[in-house]
Amino acid sequence: MSEGAFKLRAPVPTGDKVIRMEGIRKVYDTGKIQVEALKGVDLQVCAGEFIALVGPSGSGKSTLMNLIGCLDTPTSGTYELRGESVAGMDKEQLATIRNRRVGFVFQSFNLLPQISAFENVELPLLFGGLSTRARRERATELLERVGLADRMEHKPTELSGGQMQRVAIARAVAMEPDILLADEPTGNLDSASGQDIMSLFTDLWTQGRTIIVITHDSALAKRADRQIEIHDGNIH
Ligand SMILES: Nc1ncnc2c1ncn2[C@@H]1O[C@H](COP(=O)(O)OP(=O)(O)O)[C@@H](O)[C@H]1O
Ligand SMILES: [Mg+2]
Repeated sequence: MSEGAFKLRAPVPTGDKVIRMEGIRKVYDTGKIQVEALKGVDLQVCAGEFIALVGPSGSGKSTLMNLIGCLDTPTSGTYELRGESVAGMDKEQLATIRNRRVGFVFQSFNLLPQISAFENVELPLLFGGLSTRARRERATELLERVGLADRMEHKPTELSGGQMQRVAIARAVAMEPDILLADEPTGNLDSASGQDIMSLFTDLWTQGRTIIVITHDSALAKRADRQIEIHDGNIH
């Protein structure tokens, strides 16, 4: 079946702004001390871009990623995701936005361990309200596309690291998100599996996806079409 048959909705036209952030600050208040993790970040990302976010440990990469992905809200500043202002949203609205517009891939995979690869990929489709049949077709297609047709019924513990990350990527793109975010996706993988995952991101990008990857891996960063450096809470 063609890729088009699985499009849930129209993609953002290439070149349109998907992310518009201005003056984003994030202060973590741990009681005794306050940490200003982001100090006024301006960031614009267009549809179809593949961005590598690089910077030393503790510079604010994950904080920025969590804000972009609506897992957290900024202390101040404005953030529009596909023209919609995110800053004032409540928890429920943020959860809906995350399900519909953002796909996440983490260093530690974050798959649910008790259920199969297939069910992990099916989960966002369930939350997204797809019918049983549509979920089955789509989860199958996605797992086939990441090369796991013969591993669908495996639980995460029965898969290698590289295979788990493939499941996580299939899950992340299941709802056709506007942006795919990955925080150190090859950090727990051997170099061969890391290469496979890098190729998968490049494939997804050439299919028109907007991707932001945090990485220490200079080979992965070089594959991106734009590198953004973050130092001590500022973008350079
Ligand atoms: N939940 C938190 N509470 C308090 N401080 C935090 C929290 N998360 C991150 N920080 C601090 O914010 C800064 C940026 O962290 P982070 O965004 O995780 O950096 P990176 O991903 O680049 O390593 C660091 O100084 C870190 O210690
Ligand atoms: Mg981090």
